[in-house]
Amino acid sequence: MKIVVTGGAGFIGSNFIGYILGEHPDWEVTNLDKLTYAGNLENLKDVHDDPRYRFVRGDIADRDLVGRLLAEGCDVVINFAAESHVDRSIMDASPFIHTNVVGTQVLLEAARHHGIRKFVQVSTDEVYGSIAQGSFTEESPLCANSPYSASKASADLLCLAYWRTYGVPVSITRCSNNFGPYQFPEKLIPLVISNAIENRPIPVYGDGLNVRDWIYVQDHCCALEAVVERGTPGEVYNIGSGQEKTNLELIHTLLGLLGKPGDLIEFVADRPGHDRRYALDAGRIGRELGWAPGHPFEEAMAATVEWYLQNEAWWRRIKSGEYAEYYERMYLHR
Ligand code: NAD
Ligand code: TYD
Repeated sequence: MKIVVTGGAGFIGSNFIGYILGEHPDWEVTNLDKLTYAGNLENLKDVHDDPRYRFVRGDIADRDLVGRLLAEGCDVVINFAAESHVDRSIMDASPFIHTNVVGTQVLLEAARHHGIRKFVQVSTDEVYGSIAQGSFTEESPLCANSPYSASKASADLLCLAYWRTYGVPVSITRCSNNFGPYQFPEKLIPLVISNAIENRPIPVYGDGLNVRDWIYVQDHCCALEAVVERGTPGEVYNIGSGQEKTNLELIHTLLGLLGKPGDLIEFVADRPGHDRRYALDAGRIGRELGWAPGHPFEEAMAATVEWYLQNEAWWRRIKSGEYAEYYERMYLHR
């Protein structure tokens, strides 16, 4: 099977490519990635020389490029490419509209013209907004609160419209907060781990009691594989682990694993429009596709902390701002 993965140089996309090439000897992957600040080819060093893997640098909103790639013959498109950080979307929403909305529409249009067999849109639980009690099902109304989640919700609606109007076989996944190797250290977990290792303060927004459902990235990849293989067109699948933690609980767990003191925590101004709690009912993907998370939270979190301890050079390069130069040297001019 030939798949085009977009955004495969980011956190989840790179984990997915590694996972899928390991599981499926007969799958071929083309990774289309613009290499924004969040894209890092070092995440793919283990597959770089695999003959079943190819990297193409480009923008998913580039109609000509996307058209040319899909014209080469491709069975499945899986769209990870996105601007993904809520805080950045609050500072400037424009790139979020360009990539998350326009880029998705360009991909859908190309998928339509080239008769792609399956299109998987990697979305987020954030499209439902915040919930005080209970959990969101796939039928819950969209109520996005940040420019990031609004752009992802817009993309979801476009995907469903392309299914209903043109029959483009789109399945949408809405996953909770991921953690694991290669997550860009602007997101909470790698930020906490790396700041703690450096004995730097850990900024906690507001009262630190916001709740997220945390899933190990490998479990997300496995769920996406199930949707690629067995997902129904036009269907939405929530993906979550049910591991709800307040930010403070999570941070104390991480500090405990690292043997660092709680006084590194520094309460800072809250994020504007900060969603209080995300919670998903992920029953459908279990019932219909037979998926369940396979990694116990404590083990996965310990493995994640260990990864950041063992791979200090990876995040230090990013945090020190040397990454761009390194990347040019390592990959672009070979
Ligand atoms: P990330 O920011 O780590 O990676 C995004 C990747 O997309 C980068 O490699 C970047 O270079 C690439 N990209 C950005 N704009 C592009 C464009 N115009 N054309 C081509 N490539 C482009 O993000 P992530 O955390 O890996 O998230 C991947 C997807 O999963 C996103 O769609 C996100 O909305 C979704 N998601 C993330 C989480 C999470 O917890 N991280 C949870 C649920 C859903
Ligand atoms: P984040 O990793 O940005 O994911 P999202 O906002 O998409 O859920 O943040 C997770 C939670 O941690 C969220 O409630 C915001 C909070 N947070 C902090 O308290 N401090 C920080 O420095 C960051 C980045 C996030």
